[in-house]
Amino acid sequence: FSAFLTDSFGRRHSYLRISLTEKCNLRCQYCMPEEGVPLTPKADLLTTEEILTLARLFVKEGVDKIRLTGGEPLIRPDVVNIVAQLRQLEGLRTIGITTNGINLARLLPQLQKAGLSAVNISLDTLVPAKFEFIVRRKGFHKVMEGIHKAIELGYSPVKVNCVVMRGLNEDELLDFVALTKGLPLDVRFIEYMPFDGNKWNFKKMVSYKEMLDTLQQRWPELEKLPEEESSTAKAFKIPGFQGQVSFITSMSEHFCGTCNRLRITADGNLKVCLFGNSEVSLRDHLRAGASEEELLSIIGAAVGRKKRQHAGMFNISQMKNRPMILIGG
Ligand code: GTP
Ligand code: 5AD
Ligand code: SF4
Repeated sequence: FSAFLTDSFGRRHSYLRISLTEKCNLRCQYCMPEEGVPLTPKADLLTTEEILTLARLFVKEGVDKIRLTGGEPLIRPDVVNIVAQLRQLEGLRTIGITTNGINLARLLPQLQKAGLSAVNISLDTLVPAKFEFIVRRKGFHKVMEGIHKAIELGYSPVKVNCVVMRGLNEDELLDFVALTKGLPLDVRFIEYMPFDGNKWNFKKMVSYKEMLDTLQQRWPELEKLPEEESSTAKAFKIPGFQGQVSFITSMSEHFCGTCNRLRITADGNLKVCLFGNSEVSLRDHLRAGASEEELLSIIGAAVGRKKRQHAGMFNISQMKNRPMILIGG
């Protein structure tokens, strides 16, 4: 495995998340402020050619999983073509996408043909009116249609990401669990994380322990599943249910020790940690004509500076970072 992608704690970064756009067709409260965020001028965003050049380089060095994020990745007009081009890369095993689901039912057949292997869909409530409040737009039924299309096309499990916020949707945990009875879903309850402009506070965060308590009271037979390597999620299952439920405990029990993830933002910065604000522009070096060796040494230096773990929820809530919409999760 590449020395350039191995950090000073021995973590091998085989999973690359690429943001395809800063734009989104929703306005989720936990992701961006109501007024939106200043967008990067088009000329400063990575072109498709540049995305593929970088992807090729990372895959050559040992990346075997790429996830496309945003903003909303399905807004990028050539997203199907990008998946198809990535599929050509030898050594790349998994191509995933994390989407809000709005355009999914329409695009998934083409994406699947192009080689998309996994789909994660954000959905924070099962109540249509509440959906409109959380995401500040309409579209609940489109998202449900997207989830069912993914199941119909054989994706298994289809992961549903649910950011849990006190006073908003923590009363719906058991309804989400009920969805996993007859559907091959992995419903993932995510602890609310702080990003610029998302008005995070400790009281709005519902912890893993608290969520698990709620589930165990209703379902004492809830069973913990073995941990998958470098996974963001702790998985559980109710015997007899088709799907499973998981928790993404970034705040109360971080999983930095097994982190294998790197990120490239839509404007071409390499971000070695979701919460670290040290970034390096790969775009500028690419456009200045850097050779492969030069790019690798820049990437290697950035990975080498990666911290052991994030700074703790109160510290990260104070520090400057990007808003979530400009990171992609
Ligand atoms: P899989 O590849 O299916 O395991 O998905 P994933 O969890 O890697 O990606 P997804 O985009 O579905 O993200 C789910 C949640 O996990 C989001 O809230 C992300 O912000 C969070 N997440 C993903 N990667 C990291 C990470 O490296 N650190 C932290 N703290 N959270 C992460
Ligand atoms: N806290 C936790 N998860 C978040 N996501 C977006 N913003 C936050 C936040 N503040 C999740 C979305 C999406 C994934 C990429 O990140 O639900 O599924
Ligand atoms: Fe990796 Fe940073 Fe997330 Fe920790 S906080 S798991 S180091 S990206």
